[in-house]
Amino acid sequence: MSEFVVELDGRRVTVREGTTVLGAARQAGVFIPTLCRREELAPYGGCRLCLVESEGRGGRKLVASCVHPVEEDLVVRTRSGKIDRLRKLLLELFLAHAPEAAVLRELGREYGADATRFVGEGSFCVHCGLCVRYCAQVEKKDAVGFVERGTKKEIAFVPEIASRECAACKRCFPLCPTSYLQAAYVLIQGLAFPAGC
Ligand code: SF4
Ligand code: FES
Repeated sequence: MSEFVVELDGRRVTVREGTTVLGAARQAGVFIPTLCRREELAPYGGCRLCLVESEGRGGRKLVASCVHPVEEDLVVRTRSGKIDRLRKLLLELFLAHAPEAAVLRELGREYGADATRFVGEGSFCVHCGLCVRYCAQVEKKDAVGFVERGTKKEIAFVPEIASRECAACKRCFPLCPTSYLQAAYVLIQGLAFPAGC
């Protein structure tokens, strides 16, 4: 397999073909914030928090570093006024869902996000998809999934599967950045399969 030399914030790093920009950054010790990425799950590219500026064959563009593969002589900037403004905006949108979420508050401080900029959302799920993908890809149970689309998009447990599988598992719980998952589980448990049913 070929190796490529790429430049990240002025640091040159040699990485294997197929490595993502995020992978190259981690190899080079350059921090890029992420929300929906986990090593054990297939890349998703949902939250866009890992946006970086890349300059390569396709010219200069903003890419999600967790899904964008490196190429020879790619030049990447992980911080700039534009990147920081976009991350700030994304964090403000997430914080409108979950203003108390520790991971969002910490990143929000880093990027100067105002948690009150947008009207608070009814649901504190930020649609990172970690719970849905973990259950499908690692546990292979599909006990939780997304329902509806657009602004109505929500996660929901499938009662027939969740009543059978979740009590002894719950390994997706620590993945949720906002604790919405735990709340949704308690609700479905109370409504659809109260203890003992
Ligand atoms: S419930 Fe939590 S883990 Fe699942 S999609 Fe929403 S924020 Fe992400
Ligand atoms: S971490 Fe890359 S899009 Fe979410």
